[in-house]
Amino acid sequence: MKIFIDTANLEEIRQAVDMGILDGVTTNPTLMSKEKGAFKDILKEICRLVPGSVSAEVVAVDAPGMIREGRELAKIADNITIKIPTIPEGLKAIRALSAEGIWVNATLIFNPMQGLLVAKAGATYASPFVGRLDDICHVGMDLIEQLITIYANYDVKTQVLVASVRSTQHVIEAAMMGAHVCTMPYKVLMQLMKHPLTDSGLKQFLADWEKVNKG
Ligand code: E4P
Repeated sequence: MKIFIDTANLEEIRQAVDMGILDGVTTNPTLMSKEKGAFKDILKEICRLVPGSVSAEVVAVDAPGMIREGRELAKIADNITIKIPTIPEGLKAIRALSAEGIWVNATLIFNPMQGLLVAKAGATYASPFVGRLDDICHVGMDLIEQLITIYANYDVKTQVLVASVRSTQHVIEAAMMGAHVCTMPYKVLMQLMKHPLTDSGLKQFLADWEKVNKG
């Protein structure tokens, strides 16, 4: 499973890159609004740091506007992926941009048929939002299972990108289900590496090392 980080924060991205496990980055207008500086400069720097896909979201809601914005954003770097909302106008934009060879991430997916339609339109990635479904008393991960099954039934090339991840449990389940990609906040990424027995074990080893005759 590819690991993406869900942030526009350069320091978090640098940390994840240095750990050597980062395959890509997802941003959205909310994440961008938390950062200082011009958004295009931030995107350029993210694309320089990360060799894989970097999602940048359009804000137009009509197909011609999305296509125009998508083409502009795609000029920033070869690894830019254009995030398009999963609405009827979005399908037209997904079709047009992917026909031009531009990577597209269909965002805000909440049901399996939205996932099938964006795949038919040619999306590179489909982003189901699991945490936001959990928030309204659905089981977000059920949607991941459904999408993986549907894509496998028809040998669909679109990759399931698990988004709106809130916990390590989401990541574990995504990997168990065989999701292609999981994007997560920096905090969740760091929690994946955490275990109290690792910490106490290391503490003990270091304490015992002090008793070793190093002469
Ligand atoms: C990523 O592509 C999504 O925009 C993001 O995961 C949404 O997460 P949220 O539901 O925590 O805002």
